[in-house]
Amino acid sequence: MTLQLTPLHPLFAAEVHGLDLRITPNPDTCNAIHRAMDRYAVLLFRDQRIDDDQQMDFGAALGPLEETLGIVDAHKHRLKHRQMADISNLDTDGHLLADDDRRRMFNLGNRLWHSDSSFKLVPALYSMLHARLVPPENGDTEFADMRLAWEALPNRTRETLQPLVAEHSLLFSRAQLGFGDYTEAERAQFAPVPQRLVRWHPGSQRHSLYLSAHIGRIQGWPNPEALALIRDLTESATQRPSVYAHRWQQFDLVIWDNRTTMHRGRPFEDKTHPRDMRRVTLTDHAPTLEQAQAAG
Ligand code: OGA
Ligand code: MN
Repeated sequence: MTLQLTPLHPLFAAEVHGLDLRITPNPDTCNAIHRAMDRYAVLLFRDQRIDDDQQMDFGAALGPLEETLGIVDAHKHRLKHRQMADISNLDTDGHLLADDDRRRMFNLGNRLWHSDSSFKLVPALYSMLHARLVPPENGDTEFADMRLAWEALPNRTRETLQPLVAEHSLLFSRAQLGFGDYTEAERAQFAPVPQRLVRWHPGSQRHSLYLSAHIGRIQGWPNPEALALIRDLTESATQRPSVYAHRWQQFDLVIWDNRTTMHRGRPFEDKTHPRDMRRVTLTDHAPTLEQAQAAG
């Protein structure tokens, strides 16, 4: 099986044609999707009129799903499946979240460049985001390829970065926006986890820079030096020529590989327009510190 692909950007990201995801793909098709993900890191499937069950089935066909979500007020979950992340500005009754709702404040963290679930010991593999309802304008999602980011670095910098271990937490990313309103249970649940700063991606045989807004420390480094470095790296990794900005149409499904990309949401009129996006997320196989760091 070969997929029909059209590149969306000169360096990565492609649109897949000819698949109807209401039908769960067979192993051969899944394999072709994995190979395309290895090459392009971001895939777009347009006009997929799938429901929650079909989106879950599609995810499960590609790999094991993440069990838990990194959210506040988990008891107010709007969607039928506990494993489906609600990337919307809607309350359980379908109304827009109130301006000062804690969930709205917390969700604004998605506007920072990040890799999904890098705050979990076993982080996310693919994220699969489906657009059920999109605002008339704005609200793009931007992607940057972290293999290109690594390859653009001078050798001396690469040698410095290679052995480093960063600590990631939702508390760190939200603190960047001045959010710190947690229950004790949430604070404990969001305790920092260690991740390699440089990862090896076996599917493309390339390294990637594992950056995320969730990073708040580098082990063995003073905080200001660590965070100044992370800020510089993030800035250079997300320069315009390495960014694909996805302009959403209703029923788009976009899959990205969190090992090799970062992404961020862009602002839209969220106090007046609903934006209903739902995400199924695959889990990686092991903590990054237990993963191989190069071919071999
Ligand atoms: C996500 C995410 C950004 C957006 O779904 O993980 O960060 O544009 N989304 O909704
Ligand atoms: Mn995200």
